[in-house]
Amino acid sequence: METKKLFFGGKWRETEKVLDVTNPYNGEVIARVYEASKKEVEFAINTAYAAREKVASLTAKERGEILEKIAMLLQDRAEDFAKTISLESGKAIKFARGEVARAIETFKFSADVARSDNGEVVALDAAASGKNRFGYYKRHPIGVVGAITPFNFPLNLVAHKVGPGIAAGCPVVLKPASSTPITAIKLVEVILEAGFPAEGINIVVGSGSTVGNALVESDKVAKITFTGSPEVGLQIKAKSGTKRVTLELGNNGPVIVHKDADIAKALPTCVVGGFANSGQVCISVQRIYIHESIYDEFKDMYVKSLEGMGVGDQLKDDVVVGPMIDLKEAERVEQWVNEAVSQGAKILVGGKRKGSIYYPTVLENCTSDMKVVKDEVFAPVVSLFKYNNLDEAIRLVNDTKYGLQVGVFTQDINTAFYLINRLDFGGVIVNDVPTFRVDNMPYGGVKLSGLGREGVKYAVDEMTEVRMVVFNLS
Ligand code: SIN
Repeated sequence: METKKLFFGGKWRETEKVLDVTNPYNGEVIARVYEASKKEVEFAINTAYAAREKVASLTAKERGEILEKIAMLLQDRAEDFAKTISLESGKAIKFARGEVARAIETFKFSADVARSDNGEVVALDAAASGKNRFGYYKRHPIGVVGAITPFNFPLNLVAHKVGPGIAAGCPVVLKPASSTPITAIKLVEVILEAGFPAEGINIVVGSGSTVGNALVESDKVAKITFTGSPEVGLQIKAKSGTKRVTLELGNNGPVIVHKDADIAKALPTCVVGGFANSGQVCISVQRIYIHESIYDEFKDMYVKSLEGMGVGDQLKDDVVVGPMIDLKEAERVEQWVNEAVSQGAKILVGGKRKGSIYYPTVLENCTSDMKVVKDEVFAPVVSLFKYNNLDEAIRLVNDTKYGLQVGVFTQDINTAFYLINRLDFGGVIVNDVPTFRVDNMPYGGVKLSGLGREGVKYAVDEMTEVRMVVFNLS
């Protein structure tokens, strides 16, 4: 079996240590990859640091063309990327194909942003002392970007860091999740083929304590962009000193289904939103608050919709719920659900584990102090709740340490605005689930859900420094 090399210091390289990459469905080793040591990460950072001027001096046209070409090459290799994502992450193949399509768009959006204006004229003469002055600001690349990415979107969440990095004119050192590095390595092949300077892209695989820490602690890295758990995100923030930091952390995805909701619309989206990618999505549906007048009807239909849902080998076309990323995660969810049951929760469907697969599970009678409610379950487990009036729903939904996205279903515009103005989240999605995301919208949360926003243009803002220029014309 081939061992995948890492790309850093301008070359594909072997290192001393090797890591196995396994198929989460059956534990088979599907690839091997070299692992970087601290010294090798430092070498990658030094290379990126030395390349700052070279990458920053690419014109907007050149950056735009490289990004378009990445999108085109991804399109040419779409099926290979989808299979790689599915095999190493356990994501059902149909969702893996969707992820590739989104990543192509993310790179196209990055090309658009690279080519668009990057500053504006400031009306200095609006101030008394600004007479006879002319001023504008321009965005300058911040320098080396350290990108730390998770397993659940091994391509598109890498695209959300590397695409804006290239658009902004920044060299990137990428640390993909150790469980899903092959997709990211293939993406680096594509980035090089598209003509991005070799020193500007570096990929180093390894543990958070070695590779992650080396990135976070280096003075030569200007910005860390991280998607992952709140626990690691907070550690990164504490260690980052004066670096710019963007953190995309967790959520416990709430939905409100009000009494006037279009149930035919709410139901299928709440099903896909809860169970796609085995619930391992930061904006997965986890808590559904249903008005008491429609609770029983919605509950019965929701549970019934799960009948016959494809569960199993993620490479099969009809599978919706593949394995969790590993056995430990499946056991963790099993333990959380068992604990909830011992505290009074009722399993309406599911509640079973087979190896690394956790079956789609719906619970009721849960309370807000249960782990399956208050923490991010990150698994195919959804809890249903009844509420009496909107203010009660708002209180229950806001009663969380998270605040990434929330979905609300209502056909009344006044109810929609009442909720939009009171829900404490980075995104309020009306008549859809919190799981809705397209890749050019600002995406990020409040409270423990993170800091800053992604969504190409917003990520580029965070990868550039504003430089103000003033001319004295008097
Ligand atoms: C995430 O899990 O943070 C990303 C979700 C998405 O991009 O759809």
